[in-house]
Amino acid sequence: MIKKAVLPVAGLGTRMLPITKVVPKELLNIIDRPTIEYVVDETINSGIDTLIFIISQGKGKIIDYFDMDMNLRSFLKERGKLDLLKKVEGVEDKIKHLIEVRQKIPEGLGHAVLMAEKAVGNEPFAVLLGDDLVDADPPCMKQMIEVYTQLSAKTKNHSIIAVEEVPLEDISKYGIVDGERIEEDLIKIKKVIEKPSPEEAPSNLAIIGRYIFDPVIFTYLKQIPKVKGEYQLTDAIQLMIDNGYEVYAYLFKGERFDTGNKEGFFKTILHYASKNSKLKEVLIKFVKENKLT
Ligand code: G1P
Repeated sequence: MIKKAVLPVAGLGTRMLPITKVVPKELLNIIDRPTIEYVVDETINSGIDTLIFIISQGKGKIIDYFDMDMNLRSFLKERGKLDLLKKVEGVEDKIKHLIEVRQKIPEGLGHAVLMAEKAVGNEPFAVLLGDDLVDADPPCMKQMIEVYTQLSAKTKNHSIIAVEEVPLEDISKYGIVDGERIEEDLIKIKKVIEKPSPEEAPSNLAIIGRYIFDPVIFTYLKQIPKVKGEYQLTDAIQLMIDNGYEVYAYLFKGERFDTGNKEGFFKTILHYASKNSKLKEVLIKFVKENKLT
């Protein structure tokens, strides 16, 4: 039912400078894959086959990574490097329909999502932010699609946002939601505030970069004001709620990692390393040898 996903990857990645001068942050690797591939895998494993990348100048390499490189394929074939060929094909054949849209001016996440309007058309769609990796089974987006579908029996033109509880000191990094709990893991949102101070935050439920939107969001993305040079997606969500559209916050099952800063990026690497038996051994040995515990 949800067949299209928007992946905004136009951000400058200033928190990871200076490497992001030349490498898009989405291509920095977690063990053996770029971070964006984890998000692409989640999207595809959730049954979505059309991926709309919102890119900006210097981000074309992200598309190249998933694009077909015939020269490389022939080279690997000629040299008999069939294992590597298989790996490359695996990445290049991953995305069935890849659409690339340019955000020419960096005017915030709301503006980036609005760029996808033509490609999305008039159907509900997913948005997945590249900084947030979610290790979950079933994948976070798949869980959300299920909840979205269940809700479709009772309501329509609704939207869903994945949230998690965060500690007080992290509240000001996120969009925070408030509303009425209708099930253990579901809240009907009344209010969303972008990056409030802990004092003004109505809860500690933070938006984690996974959304399913009714296409009416585009109407409101065109009405919101620019604040400090950016159009905030959160403001359009609030406008949608104010106009009577139902938006739900879903407490997903799984573990989320923020790869957009140095500490979070490192923690993500450690997490995925500890899931691999060989790397886990290396990690344990290193901790012991260096007396880190
Ligand atoms: C964006 C959203 C914010 C959300 C966050 C999740 O902020 O504006 O509402 O909580 O992603 O990662 P950003 O991290 O781009 O500043």
